[in-house]
Amino acid sequence: MTIYLLHGCNLDMLGRRRQEHYGGITLQMLENEVVRKGRELGMKVRSFQTNHEGDLVEKIHELVDRADGIVINPGAWTHYSYAIRDALEILDAPVAEVHLSDIYAREEWRRRSVISDVCAVTIAGKGLQGYVEALEWLAAEIGSTG
Ligand code: DQA
Repeated sequence: MTIYLLHGCNLDMLGRRRQEHYGGITLQMLENEVVRKGRELGMKVRSFQTNHEGDLVEKIHELVDRADGIVINPGAWTHYSYAIRDALEILDAPVAEVHLSDIYAREEWRRRSVISDVCAVTIAGKGLQGYVEALEWLAAEIGSTG
């Protein structure tokens, strides 16, 4: 089972971003932890991060018929990228949307996700634990649908 962990803009700067929202974890630490948890669940986790919207769209295209599941945190693109939303819609594999911070309890413009309707599950405000829950959710979902 191969899961892709996708991160969008500014998430490469974790560790330097506002601690009250994102904690002190770096992207490398987060990815290592998700890979480790994935291994426990019998999953291979592949990671990708970009600050370029078109690169994320192309990465998602590459994953059509290739990924068994996707965990995505698009960063600020969450709130306005219909291009990423439409790319995700092409995938057959289940998509889990994750946010480190509780986007629903922050600024008005952050409360809306334009990708949620094409994601099977959304987890926000749980930090690293949100990614762990997303993997567990995918393991159960993929396990039950074959
Ligand atoms: C984020 C929330 C977004 O609003 C923000 O732009 C990010 C990170 C999160 O993980 O909480 O870059 O997706």
